[in-house]
Amino acid sequence: MRLHDRTAFVTGASKGLGRAIAERFVEEGARVVIADIDQENLDKTMAETTVDASRLTAINLDVSDFDAVQAAINHAIADFGALDILVNNAGYSPKKNWLEYEISEWQKVLDVNLSGEFYGARAVAEHMMARKSGRIINLSSSAWRHGGVATGGGLPYTSSKAGVIGLTRALCKALGPYNITVNAIAPGPTPTPMTSSWLSAAEDALKENIPLRRLGTARDIANAALFLASDEAAFITGSCLDVNGGLTMS
Ligand SMILES: NC(=O)c1ccc[n+]([C@@H]2O[C@H](COP(=O)([O-])OP(=O)(O)OC[C@H]3O[C@@H](n4cnc5c(N)ncnc54)[C@H](O)[C@@H]3O)[C@@H](O)[C@H]2O)c1
Repeated sequence: MRLHDRTAFVTGASKGLGRAIAERFVEEGARVVIADIDQENLDKTMAETTVDASRLTAINLDVSDFDAVQAAINHAIADFGALDILVNNAGYSPKKNWLEYEISEWQKVLDVNLSGEFYGARAVAEHMMARKSGRIINLSSSAWRHGGVATGGGLPYTSSKAGVIGLTRALCKALGPYNITVNAIAPGPTPTPMTSSWLSAAEDALKENIPLRRLGTARDIANAALFLASDEAAFITGSCLDVNGGLTMS
């Protein structure tokens, strides 16, 4: 058990990659808060999960509301006694011609994808600093390296995911002296509800550019998060782990 009795807080975990990460952590002995804005899918996950549901705690949370994030993190700390791992995974990815975005839509993407990840780290930092121990894992995207789709359809998303890399590096410097590691994962296109509207149509063309000639799975991403949360990754911080079959290389 690589996370025996560790405690984790995973945002955006009612489905997709966040759910896979939370379930992978439970398989390795962790207790995990799954926080998500989507109550219906939180209920579904609690009812249908194949891992030990008694080790999952569901909480309704909008990561773009700092006070709510702080309250949820405080609640998890009080409930578990301590919080070892934060996975900032919640994300939002609208796609349209970039010239048609309302400024409020641009702002919303940054609020969820970038500010939401900062809020999580800010809310847990002092607790982890006092314990001189902690792991923070931020979900970025391969889009930050390749610039997203050619037409700029995901322009706010791509920008927010590049911001996550800067956030990760700055937090790495600020929190390293407290024995807290901060790393990013940049998944390539992976089948989840987020990509269901376009990925199957693009799959064949994409695979031509992926040296391993397949798309990733949610479990591939969850395994990367497990590694970064595990004792084996104790000396890795400030890094961005590309989990994309070679689609991009750092
Ligand atoms: N699937 C991919 O191909 C891919 C690739 C690169 C990066 N990512 C990133 O991985 C993360 C997970 O992606 P996914 O594919 O599982 O997406 P998804 O849409 O399937 O799941 C995202 C989850 O985040 C939740 N969420 C959205 N806004 C929220 C908010 N304001 N507060 C709390 N929860 C909120 C949603 O309800 C959902 O459960 C995201 O950060 C995404 O940008 C995904």
